[in-house]
Amino acid sequence: MKSIFKHFLPILFLLVNYGAVAQNQAREKLLLDFGWKFAYGHPFDPAKDFNNGTSYFSYLTKAGYGDGAAAKNFDDRAWRDINLPHDYAVIQPFSEKGSFSHGFKAIGRNFPEVSVGWYRKTFQIPKEDLGKKITVSFDGVFRNSIVWLNGHYLGTELSGYDSFEYDLTDYINYGGENVIAVRTDATMEEGWFYEGAGIYRHVWLNKSNKLHVASNGTFVRTEMDGSTAKIKVRTTLINQDVAPRTFLLKQQVLNRDGKILESQQSASITLKPLEHKDIEQVILLRNARLWSLDDPYLHRLQTIISESGKIVDNYLTKFGIRTIRFDANEGFFLNGKHIKITGTNNHQDHAGVGAAMPDELQYFRIRKLKEFGNNAYRCSHNPPTPQLLEACDSLGVLVIDETRLMGINDYHLNTLKKLILRDRNHPSIISWSVGNEEWGIENDVVGARIVGTMQNFAKSLDSTRAITAAISGGVGVGISTAVDMLGYNYIRHKDTDKHHATFPQQLSWGTEEGSTVTTRGVYVDDLEKHYLSNYDRPQNDHFFSLEDGWKYYVKRPYLAGMFIWTGFDYRGEPTPFGWPSVTSYFGMLDLCGFPKDYYYYLRSWWTQKPTIHIFPHWNWSGKEGQNIPVWVYSNADEVELFLNRKSLGKKQMPKNGHLSWEVAYVPGTLEAIGYKNGKREINDVVKTTGEASNIRLTAHQNSIKANREDIAVITVDVLDKNKLHQPTASQEIEFSIEGPGKLIGVGNGDPTSLENEQFLSEIQTFEIANLQEKLSETKIEESAVSDLAKQSGWQKAFADERLQAFGEKYASVLYKGEFNLPANYTDGTFKFFFNSIGKQQSVYVNGKQLASNIAQSKNGNTFDLDVALLKEGKNEVLILTTPLTKKQSWETVNSNPGLIQMVVPAPAWKRKLFNGLAQVIVQSTGGTGDIILKAKAPGLKEAILKIPALPAPQRPAIP
Ligand code: GAL
Repeated sequence: MKSIFKHFLPILFLLVNYGAVAQNQAREKLLLDFGWKFAYGHPFDPAKDFNNGTSYFSYLTKAGYGDGAAAKNFDDRAWRDINLPHDYAVIQPFSEKGSFSHGFKAIGRNFPEVSVGWYRKTFQIPKEDLGKKITVSFDGVFRNSIVWLNGHYLGTELSGYDSFEYDLTDYINYGGENVIAVRTDATMEEGWFYEGAGIYRHVWLNKSNKLHVASNGTFVRTEMDGSTAKIKVRTTLINQDVAPRTFLLKQQVLNRDGKILESQQSASITLKPLEHKDIEQVILLRNARLWSLDDPYLHRLQTIISESGKIVDNYLTKFGIRTIRFDANEGFFLNGKHIKITGTNNHQDHAGVGAAMPDELQYFRIRKLKEFGNNAYRCSHNPPTPQLLEACDSLGVLVIDETRLMGINDYHLNTLKKLILRDRNHPSIISWSVGNEEWGIENDVVGARIVGTMQNFAKSLDSTRAITAAISGGVGVGISTAVDMLGYNYIRHKDTDKHHATFPQQLSWGTEEGSTVTTRGVYVDDLEKHYLSNYDRPQNDHFFSLEDGWKYYVKRPYLAGMFIWTGFDYRGEPTPFGWPSVTSYFGMLDLCGFPKDYYYYLRSWWTQKPTIHIFPHWNWSGKEGQNIPVWVYSNADEVELFLNRKSLGKKQMPKNGHLSWEVAYVPGTLEAIGYKNGKREINDVVKTTGEASNIRLTAHQNSIKANREDIAVITVDVLDKNKLHQPTASQEIEFSIEGPGKLIGVGNGDPTSLENEQFLSEIQTFEIANLQEKLSETKIEESAVSDLAKQSGWQKAFADERLQAFGEKYASVLYKGEFNLPANYTDGTFKFFFNSIGKQQSVYVNGKQLASNIAQSKNGNTFDLDVALLKEGKNEVLILTTPLTKKQSWETVNSNPGLIQMVVPAPAWKRKLFNGLAQVIVQSTGGTGDIILKAKAPGLKEAILKIPALPAPQRPAIP
């Protein structure tokens, strides 16, 4: 066996170092994100939906009959080239007719033209793969997706959040080209918050032996006995072969570096064809290194199936060794140590990119939350992308993993099941949430029954985590009487002490609290502009302020902790405003992740890190002599405030509180000094700044991996001549980029900004309309075409069937069609994606010959059209052919000569600063070298940022 390990170790190191997923030849997980085509379809107009489902036989009628854009040979050349993850909601403009809850993006039921998105990907599968099991898995697609491979219908997935997988094995063209087509339909909403649209998470192609570990087929649970971990492993094995298979199952526990720490091998196992079996194994690991918030150490379990000494499957499961326990009186314990849960709720979108988040952005966001002591993340209110959970695992943040909709039928329970099976090995997850604020049933017996059933069901899959449900209505009735762990949403008017006294066995925590509304960088309300100041206060009578909320929770050990609504601002729910506000105001961080002042309140009381923060900024020109409220957040014992070096008094910092002064404004320097045990420990300063003179660009990491996925999140701000950050700046900054990087999104955290978040080229296509033909029994010479074109005697094209006899009778067919161009056509570049409609063909546009006597071709021909050749309105296409004919009457010949594509290049990327800040996200395009980002604005010195893209392995991917 030893030699096998030698063989394996290099692969394991790759895995460990790069988080890669290809495991060895026995199993491959290939990223299927690159080189897709995208176009808008239509929810109800078949012509605009690429005629899908309009044929005599549809994909639901006969196997392999996917038609229109679902067909394998559909011509998608004129579609946009994109990579995944991709969100077609974020690229829409804003409209008052859009949905309040979804951030007024012009998508959804009122916008049918842009609410259905089609994706197609052409790829090769080698001949040698014949005999393997091959599947495609989607981490999540919004929503109501239909997937085809080579015209074969694979399935429909209603959920916009579930991960799902289809078996491709029998449909694949081995040794040739294959086409996956996906239709997504975002006309309906599932949540009441921005949700994105399209294939906004990763897609994978999976290859394995027909005898293999089932998808998500391992379940690792850990218990501790002193320093020895008892690692219990359940493995679901499947034999999809036609013959019985006999094999050994080996489990190896690997440390972070890929070293085998312990292993365990089964006795011989036999599975009959199509049989599946769960195998339980227990591995004892002495001196186990635990997973904790400070040391989120991850192990890997390597599950190996071997048959006569040959490895046929090799499946890796990341896990953490840890214990969790909830106590109705004392709260939560991780590895036996009490931890007050200090969490936030979050949705899944970020500035610029919407829901299509590169993996590094998940890490960026979790790190931001962790900075202020956020130790837990509630996935409100839907199953998250797996990469979010990986970020929480590896950075050390606890998670409530939540299903989307309460209910007890397949639709509901399957989501819950998929969620639990997919996510159960993440050490970060401490609780399954079966729902949120289900007002229709929250307070009645129906709710209690449904939650009871869901809870039972969840426990049958995993009994190691607490089952919770978030409730905003009454407690002591309905759902709250059935759920193990009561999730309070907002307790200002709830008596949790009384409830705890009445139900002392019930676990509880605050699933939503501190729902405050503020605008980053704003210190004076401006209700007309929809800006709200950052001095902490309750949103209204129904809520606590952040400080009061936390003070309530921190005092009560029986409440395991609280989750603030929310960590980040998100698109949609711009409460208390409506149009033209488009993002929420609840975040501790804005949509870009720029901290609001709350961040420092939490950092003061949720971390041990010495913290001091003074606000507001000190630029109040015009308010000289007027009192400005000055607040300080700090965990120092005392704080002394100085204005232009003159003390304004020292005050004791109340625990979990803040300090404030009223300071008559004079320009200059305001400094807060924090003292610990009587000694000066820390300070913070705000200074009056001058006019901005320079732009500054700061990347969140100094270099990026040249792997097509990594990103740099860049903060844009402006400085005065003394290099002081200008906190009220609002200049519009224009960006340009060179080298192996591209811009993928811009933002600034302004909840009322209706600016573009991405700047893309515009693609329009024009059909060749009014196609007519002229039939000739003698061969038409090219020299005669232009005269013939002017003469009469045209008939509708393809009126006669193209039987053999037609070909015998007519030597030539001349076709004439037209396309109509808009007035702005001079801005565009043009291509004619020509499809063969003859055996030999000569092609002309506006009298100019594009091709002479070209042979029929399966893939068509592409012609660049010089804009000088074109004109506004009607343009003429002529095609001289030797006619196509068919052998059998039921065959069809192509009658569509193709499309004209117009591309108007993307305008320059730009964004206004909002209260001094903007963000731009740059992504690797794969090459190595320096990415040069430039930023300019009138009157300011241009900034140039160099971001080296360093050599890095790309994840195993389908090209
Ligand atoms: C809660 C709800 C959240 C969000 C929030 C806005 O009631 O659970 O999803 O809508 O209100 O205030």
